[in-house]
Amino acid sequence: MNEHVSLSVPADEQAPRPNSRKVFIKTYGCQMNVYDSGRMSDALAGEGYVTTEEMGEADLILLNTCHIREKAADKVYSALGRLRDMKKARAAEGRELMIGVAGCVAQAEGEEIIRRAPAVDVVIGPQTYHRLPEALRRARGGKPVVDTEYAVEDKFEHLPVTEKAKIRARGVTAFLTVQEGCDKFCTFCVVPYTRGSEVSRPVQQIVDEAWRLVDGGVREITLLGQNVNAWRAEGPKGGEWSLGDLLYRLAEIPGLARLRYTTSHPRDMDDRLIEAHRNLRTLMPYLHLPVQAGSDRILKAMNRRHTGAEYLRLIERIREARPDIAIAGDFIVGFPGETEKDFEDTLRLVEDVNYAQAYSFKYSTRPGTPGADLGDQVSEEVKAERLERLQALLLKQQAEFAKSCVGKVIDLLLEKPGRMPGQIIGRSPWLQSVNVDAKTSQIGDIIQVRISGTGPNSLFADPAESLIGA
Ligand code: 5AD
Ligand code: SF4
Repeated sequence: MNEHVSLSVPADEQAPRPNSRKVFIKTYGCQMNVYDSGRMSDALAGEGYVTTEEMGEADLILLNTCHIREKAADKVYSALGRLRDMKKARAAEGRELMIGVAGCVAQAEGEEIIRRAPAVDVVIGPQTYHRLPEALRRARGGKPVVDTEYAVEDKFEHLPVTEKAKIRARGVTAFLTVQEGCDKFCTFCVVPYTRGSEVSRPVQQIVDEAWRLVDGGVREITLLGQNVNAWRAEGPKGGEWSLGDLLYRLAEIPGLARLRYTTSHPRDMDDRLIEAHRNLRTLMPYLHLPVQAGSDRILKAMNRRHTGAEYLRLIERIREARPDIAIAGDFIVGFPGETEKDFEDTLRLVEDVNYAQAYSFKYSTRPGTPGADLGDQVSEEVKAERLERLQALLLKQQAEFAKSCVGKVIDLLLEKPGRMPGQIIGRSPWLQSVNVDAKTSQIGDIIQVRISGTGPNSLFADPAESLIGA
């Protein structure tokens, strides 16, 4: 999934009760962690915790961590060093501060976290966080608690539903996890080990959660999964449903204006899903479909199980179905054995696809993955040089895509207030941030605007003429 910078869960809308405790949740990594942080905040609400955006006033600080690359995991240990000092200072004032580590570092490192960072009270895995309140209660007894077993029970069945006030506070766009884990075992990736094997949530659980989100004011839902298009479950009348079927079902929910899903594997883009892109106006014309590399030799070594040509053919079929679709991708440079010629194959594939958005990384060796045992590791200098060349090309394509939008009239979902008075930030169908002066409109409205210009990370727009004075 795409990488986000660290985010904190928005503060609760409701006024804190007099004796309530406060939790600050810091989220690292992908959108699924953002979703999980929200659900952990739901689980803690039953214990009297309200979320805060001020770390200084928290009684519990929870780091929801990412293990995808070495740097992501290192960040957690340096944050824990700072929290240890904070806990000491608190103790001197006679105030409690509990520290929890959740997410993929928790799953991968378990007890090791307590050994390296003894100030931590609770280590909780991505499949057990419904048991977070119980773990905190046990940790209050004085001994740290590590709960990273793969729970036999379904955490979603045990989590309290998200309160309507919280849904409202989180905004008009929401994530909804439909699938977790991965059976693909790309040789560079820790996900199959940290998130376990593929599990799909049942249709009714998903539909019920989507209804609740829409009832709380959500207009756009992004379905999440490490391998979201591998989602499969029993349909309401028996028979197996795939993600395409689920999207058709969700598109029937009145008031739900937009659907998205992320992240997909090329092997699981089936005909039904492509057909959904052709037929469902609710399904936004944006697809994050990582390819990772362009050389067939490297794709094979990565265990991606498709060739560059197969990926290009797939993109062609998707574009036939939905000509205005924007394609986004992920890339890794410097996988073991990657030669200059292999890398040039990646550049050629990028030229052929023409990406609207992309995330690219230097290969990071992850202990325990097959890639870590391969010889012929690429030097840091070569990785850095290749990444620079790849990013220059991707940035050029992104800038061209943004420029191609200027002058177009598009639907904009208004998401949040902008920096200037009267300004609102919205989302285009292609997931771009767009600034518009829309004094008479409200957050949650979908309005027509004309794109007037581009900025470094966003676009500018004016309300479309047809609407002025309407
Ligand atoms: N090194 C570098 N990048 C990685 N990714 C996954 N594992 C690694 C790794 N070991 C990237 C892939 C994936 C994205 C979420 O992170 O591009 O699609
Ligand atoms: Fe990792 Fe590959 Fe699974 Fe994506 S498909 S989560 S890159 S193993």
